[in-house]
Amino acid sequence: METRLAVWFALLLLSLAGKARTVYRTPQPDFEEKYFEQWLDHFNFESYGNRTFAQRYLITDKFWKRGVGPIFFYTGNEGDIWDFAQNSGFILELAEQQNALVVFAEHRYYGKSLPFGAASLQKEQIGLLSMEQALADYAVLIMELKKQCGARDSPVIAFGGSYGGMLSAYMRMKYPHVVAGALAASAPVLSVAGLGDANQFFRDVTADFQNYSPYCVKTVQEAFWQIKDSYLAGAYDTISSKMSICEKLSSKEDVYQLFEFARNAFTMMAMMDYPYKTDFMGHLPANPVKVGCELILASQDRLRGLAALIGVFYNSTGQVPCFDIYKLYQKCADPTGCGTGSDAQAWDYQACTEINLTFNSNNATDMFPEIPFTDAAREQYCFSKWSVHPRPLWLQTHFWGSDLAAASNIIFSNGDLDPWAGGGIGKNLSASLIAITVKGGAHHLDLRASNPADPPSAREARRQEASIIHDWLRLAREGLGS
Ligand SMILES: *[C@@H]1O[C@H](CO)[C@@H](O)[C@H](O)[C@H]1NC(C)=O
Ligand SMILES: *[C@@H]1O[C@H](CO)[C@@H](O)[C@H](O)[C@H]1NC(C)=O
Ligand SMILES: *[C@@H]1O[C@H](CO)[C@@H](O)[C@H](O)[C@H]1NC(C)=O
Ligand SMILES: *[C@@H]1O[C@H](CO)[C@@H](O)[C@H](O)[C@H]1NC(C)=O
Ligand SMILES: *[C@@H]1O[C@H](CO)[C@@H](O)[C@H](O)[C@H]1NC(C)=O
Repeated sequence: METRLAVWFALLLLSLAGKARTVYRTPQPDFEEKYFEQWLDHFNFESYGNRTFAQRYLITDKFWKRGVGPIFFYTGNEGDIWDFAQNSGFILELAEQQNALVVFAEHRYYGKSLPFGAASLQKEQIGLLSMEQALADYAVLIMELKKQCGARDSPVIAFGGSYGGMLSAYMRMKYPHVVAGALAASAPVLSVAGLGDANQFFRDVTADFQNYSPYCVKTVQEAFWQIKDSYLAGAYDTISSKMSICEKLSSKEDVYQLFEFARNAFTMMAMMDYPYKTDFMGHLPANPVKVGCELILASQDRLRGLAALIGVFYNSTGQVPCFDIYKLYQKCADPTGCGTGSDAQAWDYQACTEINLTFNSNNATDMFPEIPFTDAAREQYCFSKWSVHPRPLWLQTHFWGSDLAAASNIIFSNGDLDPWAGGGIGKNLSASLIAITVKGGAHHLDLRASNPADPPSAREARRQEASIIHDWLRLAREGLGS
């Protein structure tokens, strides 16, 4: 009896130990928040002379094998750097494995890295916001940190997601002696350079909902058509009350604002269609596309159903009494959404200068109302808002467009649920320009911390990324990095 009990107990311990091995634990690093005195203008010795500004960055040496381990450097994108540090747990997991020093650098003009304080976003001051300046900031910061930390021999890998992913790829292309390689997750390097298809983005948002249920798409379409019909019949009251709009609609402009406001909820739910609850660019439940579709399909009334669906994004607290459509969604030069607040203004400026995001919805290849956004409309908007003219060929000229053959050591990862994937690199371009597809993955899922709900392909992508980065580091140490 005792022996059987002992055997049973031993088996129980073994199975618990087996479970313990698969428990997911994201390393908690306790970043130190620091500021670096950064050049205001890297490219003009006259205008700002030697003036500087305080650039914020986060750093942790918790995993670092001092002086030997690599540096993992996140090229911050259009927001507060903490948001990216708190939603890129894979980098920390990898840092623990590969004994890296981890740095998350904030992009100039975002978060607390405002070169002219509160006045930074005024027309007179915003001209120093460009990708070239941001990349130079990162290169200068890396050189300085290497000196300060005694990391002269530590190879650097750049990481980034979305726009940050573009920057990590560009870091490798522009400063290949500074970064040994880059993981560019969900980086739409082609579409932003004007090499995309203007219908692609909202078509792919639609595809995510279609993928859950064609009937969901049909119902959403009917809801939008019903709004249009009600508007044509002058039934503003019906639309406003059924959709819980705070201030009654009263013009075509209001109806289009409602369309764009609503379309943006679909965009966010598709981008953030993670298999678990997240607090990144909003607060969303697990599988928000499924949750939203279930709500609209459960409703007897199309408009009330649409209101419930977009509420998954706009009413995640359940405390929003009505939708203030002009406050919750602000039109800008990026029809996929700029967000709100000061970071949104800075992004608008970038979408007005270097970054082309002229996506349309058309009520034909997607489920949304026809909302055109042409080069001419962008041009006009940007001139009246910022007195600037977008430069059509600049990204293709300066950041190579699709002609990446001369680059090396970049992983382009994309999730097949991500509406940005269609504007990025989906094919291997050479032995060291590698495309990884995460099946069932939304916007840079692979950069997020491991989670039990991850699809197997996310785990496989991270494993592959870890191994490729490991190889780059080995070659860099041997002085053989290409
Ligand atoms: C900038 O240049 C002036 C001289 O023109 C010098 O006095 C000052 O110390 C310099 N500042 C920095 C940050 O180098
Ligand atoms: C912007 O991108 C779209 C689609 O990618 C393209 O059709 C358009 O010509 C581009 N415009 C400019 C000014 O580059
Ligand atoms: C937000 O959610 C709460 C709770 O479900 C609901 O009572 C309220 O009507 C919703 N607000 C809107 C604008 O739909
Ligand atoms: C979409 O097109 C259909 C015709 O194919 C039309 O009946 C409907 O009103 C359009 N919907 C919107 C929102 O424009
Ligand atoms: C690119 O090559 C890697 C192997 O290096 C492979 O695992 C991956 O599937 C390839 N990507 C595509 C999109 O074919």
